[in-house]
Amino acid sequence: MDFRRVEGDRETIGDYDPCWLRYERIEDEALAEQYRKWCGNLTVLGSSPILESARDELTAGISSLLGVAPALSRDLRDFPSLVLTASAEGRGWVDRRVWEGLDEEGYLLKTVERGGDAFLLLLGKTDRGALYGAFHLLRLMQTRRPLHSLEIVENPGNRLRMINHWDNLDGSVERGYAGKSLFFRKGRIVRRLDRIRDYARLLASAGINAISINNVNVGPDECRLITGSLLPDVARLADVFRAYGIRMFLSVNFASPMWIGGLSTADPLDPEVRRWWRERAEEIYRHIPDFGGFVVKADSEHQPGPLTYNRDHAEGANMLAEALRPHGGLVVWRCFVYNFQDWRDRSTDRARAAYDHFKPLDGRFVDNVVLQVKNGPMDFQVREPVSPLFGAMERTNQMLELQITQEYTGQQKDLCFLVPQWKEVLDFDTHAAGKGSTVKAIVGGKVFPCRHSGMAGVSNVGDDRNWTGHTLAQANLYGFGRLAWNPDLSAEEIAEEWVRLTFGHDSRVVETLRDMLLESWRVYELYTAPLGVGWMVKPGHHYGPDVDGYEYSYWGTYHYADHRGIGVDRTMKTGTGFTGQYFSPNRERFESLETCPDELLLFFHHVPYTHRLKSGETVIQHIYNTHFEGVERVEDFIRRWTRLKGKIDAERYEHVLSKLREQLENAREWRDVINAYFFRKSGIPDEKGRKIY
Ligand code: GCU
Repeated sequence: MDFRRVEGDRETIGDYDPCWLRYERIEDEALAEQYRKWCGNLTVLGSSPILESARDELTAGISSLLGVAPALSRDLRDFPSLVLTASAEGRGWVDRRVWEGLDEEGYLLKTVERGGDAFLLLLGKTDRGALYGAFHLLRLMQTRRPLHSLEIVENPGNRLRMINHWDNLDGSVERGYAGKSLFFRKGRIVRRLDRIRDYARLLASAGINAISINNVNVGPDECRLITGSLLPDVARLADVFRAYGIRMFLSVNFASPMWIGGLSTADPLDPEVRRWWRERAEEIYRHIPDFGGFVVKADSEHQPGPLTYNRDHAEGANMLAEALRPHGGLVVWRCFVYNFQDWRDRSTDRARAAYDHFKPLDGRFVDNVVLQVKNGPMDFQVREPVSPLFGAMERTNQMLELQITQEYTGQQKDLCFLVPQWKEVLDFDTHAAGKGSTVKAIVGGKVFPCRHSGMAGVSNVGDDRNWTGHTLAQANLYGFGRLAWNPDLSAEEIAEEWVRLTFGHDSRVVETLRDMLLESWRVYELYTAPLGVGWMVKPGHHYGPDVDGYEYSYWGTYHYADHRGIGVDRTMKTGTGFTGQYFSPNRERFESLETCPDELLLFFHHVPYTHRLKSGETVIQHIYNTHFEGVERVEDFIRRWTRLKGKIDAERYEHVLSKLREQLENAREWRDVINAYFFRKSGIPDEKGRKIY
């Protein structure tokens, strides 16, 4: 693909990876011929920018896969083989109940018999549904599925399916591992939008429908995004995303009225402050009529917020919601709120913070506020329990925040496919309203009647040629979108689908890559984070081992290791009481040493090194074993990858190989640092007599 690319400070022409939208020519002629029957004549009924996008996607995809462009028509009398529409005419071919069962973004793909002839109907409930249906049809062909006798009805499992960028106006990306921002350069918005359009295509094809483009840590410069100086440019970006069904959001700084409004306060109950935000909202909507709303990080990690004025989070969020409400906008208020402190007594365990701050406010947020909760109570660690806040606020809109960018999970140097981790989160049963109150049901709006809910993922994308730093990290972006659309998909299905779309159908390639992806999170955990201990990372950038290094640990370390034992006592009986934030029976399961799952043991309990796990190993032996095994498993990745030589294009083959070699160095460092540290602390040697450096 030849596209424009933003390079350094200039915007130049270059080319970049089409990711999962490669549409490589189908070599099986018999299959291609079958597909051509359904794709020869495309009739589009209706017109809108989104429908045009759907038509363009079908035209480009079909041409590339089958080598012939479909003939385009707007008239049913032209004997269509494929009809794309969201119009009343399309409805006539489907059962009323099926039509009524479609959500706003739902669609139907159906073979319709007509006078001895048949055609494929691609019917969206709205134009957006039609666009998702178009990508679905292309995916069927990309994965070589039959097109005859189709009857596919799809509705999204989440209303909000959002990407959060942590991009700064100077072009840098907080926790970004894939180059510079796609949107910003040197304090302004990029002029050329070709690549943004391709980004919108990638996102829409995976099912994403919302995006916030700037960092949740909003500096004075970024405050200008909501002023006349930058809004016309933000609107240009919004236009591009809108054509792909994606609504634009912006992160805002709670103190904006002071920083850019010349007011002396940002108190949410101050009439001038309220007026200021109302006027801002009016101006934004003049530029972007379907603006999605604000994402807000308040009173967290030095960001200002309502607490400064003795107002609570509900008062802060509701004030912004009031400004957006007349225009249909939302406030996405983040629950990643904690004081800069570790725990020393029951009141300051950071794991407790989100629940302690927000649970008492249940029922106080207006209905265009949605609380965005990180998957775990801490901060995107390799392994954490699920945040107890899910389901704990039955009268409040809630959505789930995941981190696609691999801050603590290998920084797009190490392979770490996160979908298996996310699946565990989504499938976790909170028991909030009895058995079956899974996280996916809660954020899908199926447990409590919330108006707004869904999933947000922190982007892993930048302007690197391959978008994500590590080519295989594209699978995380794709997987996030697919799961947000359908949280019931399995990690295996998503992994295999992505591999086929991205690397083709050679069976050895498919199996090797799929399995490597599926194993990779566990492998990363093996050499980094034993039994739910987090944070043993180098301060600042958070890559590589530093057992006592984590910078926000004011009262000591996060693992609480001494010469006798390790782990954090978060029980109600003798610890911080964090386990008490869960519903029964999770509360009891985590509270008891007997029932606490091994992989979370040290998150919830402080135990001697000689404590025996359910696996039969002692804790210290588990630490040694997993760290040796982690390195061996990365060596095995390299062996398996090298067997694919010649089956993958040289550029991607060499790129992944070099990443895996880098990963091996990292795994060795982790093994040596962790094992040596705990050997010295505990004085207990490895029972297998391996050398510990
Ligand atoms: C992490 C991350 C920060 C980020 C924060 C957040 O702490 O290290 O860079 O700002 O999460 O989610 O707000």
